[in-house]
Amino acid sequence: THSFHYHSNKSSTVVGDLGRGINNSIESPSSDWRFNRSLSNIIRKSILKFLDAEKDISVLKGNLKPGDTIHYIFDRESTMNVSETLYQLIPKVSPMKKQHYRQCAIVGNSGILLKSRCGAEIDSHDFVIRCNLAPVEEYRADVGRRTSLVTMNPSVVQRAFQDLASSHWRERFLERLSSLNGSVLWIPSFMAKGGEERVQWASELILRHGINVRTAFPSLRLLHAVRGYWLTNKVPIKRPTTGLLMYTLATRFCEEIHLYGFWPFSLGPNGLPVKYHYYDSLTYEYRAQSSPHSMPVEFRALKRLHSQGALKLHTGECN
Ligand code: CTP
Repeated sequence: THSFHYHSNKSSTVVGDLGRGINNSIESPSSDWRFNRSLSNIIRKSILKFLDAEKDISVLKGNLKPGDTIHYIFDRESTMNVSETLYQLIPKVSPMKKQHYRQCAIVGNSGILLKSRCGAEIDSHDFVIRCNLAPVEEYRADVGRRTSLVTMNPSVVQRAFQDLASSHWRERFLERLSSLNGSVLWIPSFMAKGGEERVQWASELILRHGINVRTAFPSLRLLHAVRGYWLTNKVPIKRPTTGLLMYTLATRFCEEIHLYGFWPFSLGPNGLPVKYHYYDSLTYEYRAQSSPHSMPVEFRALKRLHSQGALKLHTGECN
């Protein structure tokens, strides 16, 4: 198998400096960055040995039935049942079947996006992936608003929509989903325990109000497969973040992948403070303690791929 880890060319020597200076700007002048189509093809093929995003992006109606018991991927001792409601939202065919795009944007939720004015550039991609139903309207100059696929960890229902406890929050949730206009809503409902009721409430609302979204629920093997791919390439991650999962999946159906809003550090390239999220007051310190992720490790891997031209990390302002 290939290993981009050892891939050596002039630019990849830059990667050796990563441990020392995370706050160095990674933004080489745009003219310096060239898409490396052959490396990107190698990566796509190599990931395909571990998973097939077309299939693993969602379980299908044929794989499950109502009443089935599922062991959570990260909490094996806990189980959930596939409810009748959830079953109704499971697709019959993969929402990404036979889909191919030239340029995709994956938008992470870092505060690095604030004042970036990257909205129009992000929206100009053929396919735009966003994470955790992050708000767009009030930030659209910086983050854009176009959304082809958006993820929703069950915890988002609690964190951003107060567990849909009042009609106000149910309304806001429904508005956000309606604004998706038929895009893919990707809900990792089988990963960690604690989200069963939240997925249930969300699903009931979607069905009751006939919300136009294409729901998808990642396959039971996706997590292990993604982790396996990165481990094989010497990137030791316990639990891949949503952002890294999206990149790994996107290699299947995107030619050129551009990442925005990936910056898991409290200081920006220019040494100024950066918010953990562009849209709320969660602090980086808080997330570092409570999160099972190793974002800086992931970031170093992404930065290496950027320097090799396999993807483009945007961390500066857009024109
Ligand atoms: N991200 C980043 N830097 C930040 C915040 C987020 O690089 N300061 C990226 C991560 O890849 C993350 C994605 O943006 O998965 C979406 O952010 P968020 O919704 O905050 O994800 P988390 O809830 O932190 O983590 P996850 O959903 O992966 O459990």
